[in-house]
Amino acid sequence: MERGETMRVEGEDWFYSGKVKEHFVNPKNFLKDSSEVKDFNAYGKVGNIKCGDVMEIWLKIENNKIVGARWRTFGCASAIASTSMLSEMLLEKGGMKVSDALKITGKDIMTRLGGLPAIKIHCSVLGDEALREAIKDFDNKK
Ligand code: FES
Repeated sequence: MERGETMRVEGEDWFYSGKVKEHFVNPKNFLKDSSEVKDFNAYGKVGNIKCGDVMEIWLKIENNKIVGARWRTFGCASAIASTSMLSEMLLEKGGMKVSDALKITGKDIMTRLGGLPAIKIHCSVLGDEALREAIKDFDNKK
């Protein structure tokens, strides 16, 4: 296969949008050091049973708003791009309300990314599920 060629998987073109590539190459809010989350108050971790990948999310929630978000994963490029975009969505405009964050779906993330190959759609759900686990963790600590 030549560089830059579109690969076909099960009858579908497999391509990554410019947004997916941008977020994969330069992921936003990726956890680089545990000191970044020392004053965060919510943590979620999920594993993807399809491929064994793991996603972790840390949140800082104040006055029912998400004011901090960090994540890390062993997941693939699609999972990295999706969770990077999710973290941006959570933090834009000064932080999303927790009740609005719970309404985010994998489809919302994919729309913002300009789509994902069909075979990679499950990767966009990882961050979304970890986010819900983190919010559950926050609620349990109240
Ligand atoms: S996260 Fe496992 S294949 Fe994408």
